[in-house]
Amino acid sequence: MSSTLSDSADGNGWNGDRDALADILAFHLEAGVDVALGEEPVDRFAESLAARGAPASLAAQEPPHMAGGAPSAAASGATAQPARRAPAPANAPAIIAPASPPPPDVAALEAREAAASAPDLDALRALLESFEGCPLKHTATRLVFADGNPAARLMLVGEAPGRDEDIEGKPFVGRSGKLLDRMLAAIGIDRTSAYIANVVPWRPPGNRTPTPQETAICLPFIRRQIELANPDLLVCLGGPSAQTLLGLREGITKARGRWVDYDTGSRTIPALATFHPAYLLRTPLGKRMAWRDMLAIEARMSES
Ligand code: URA
Repeated sequence: MSSTLSDSADGNGWNGDRDALADILAFHLEAGVDVALGEEPVDRFAESLAARGAPASLAAQEPPHMAGGAPSAAASGATAQPARRAPAPANAPAIIAPASPPPPDVAALEAREAAASAPDLDALRALLESFEGCPLKHTATRLVFADGNPAARLMLVGEAPGRDEDIEGKPFVGRSGKLLDRMLAAIGIDRTSAYIANVVPWRPPGNRTPTPQETAICLPFIRRQIELANPDLLVCLGGPSAQTLLGLREGITKARGRWVDYDTGSRTIPALATFHPAYLLRTPLGKRMAWRDMLAIEARMSES
């Protein structure tokens, strides 16, 4: 028997049922909705319709897939009633309704032009903040540009921010970031002597893998970021980063631990792929090989 949170309807026609609420919560978590941005619900569908200049009557209607527990008017044959709608609370976070993003190939072209125009890392970050070509920007909380020392000789690049990074705005601050810090500390490196970024600087919803289109759109920015930071060594954390930046085609287990040349656009530097710390958290057996990679990085760092 399920236990109820309340015996009576709560005014929204909803009899709170603990199991049903748990199911809804689980559904949201699986869909990547794992952070509450505000205290009150805000109808972004109505906002984006309004932003696109839809007539008020249309903007005020419930989107069909969002209609509440009751069957839709169309389905029930009843006369359509405008849905009850709470105005956005004054303290609701300002989320700009996304204008239709350009097609991916146009966005990638715009990204190339924008990235190439950045004279330094601050300008690149500012360009990314105003870049509208990547749809992930509209689902992420904020841009996750970089952490560490941009003047460091070592640069590490992961795949994309996760939940903790999305909240803090810095790469590798969650569980895998803590492991990365321990791996670096083992060879005497911390965030004052390393510069850390991701191929994709916005969190994909639910930590899903970025699509090839999203990666292609973000690629010119990370390439330019590497060129402007101008490290002596580049380390790709995980297969997706290695495949995207180093063009390695084999899986990370084969690709890791081998130095390859990376052309920054200004010069050629040595680059190495190693396991992503998130993989090591799931697969502790990989730590032995990751340790070898860390020693290889340490040796290279002391070469010049
Ligand atoms: N995984 C990544 O690839 N990057 C982060 O910043 C965090 C987790």
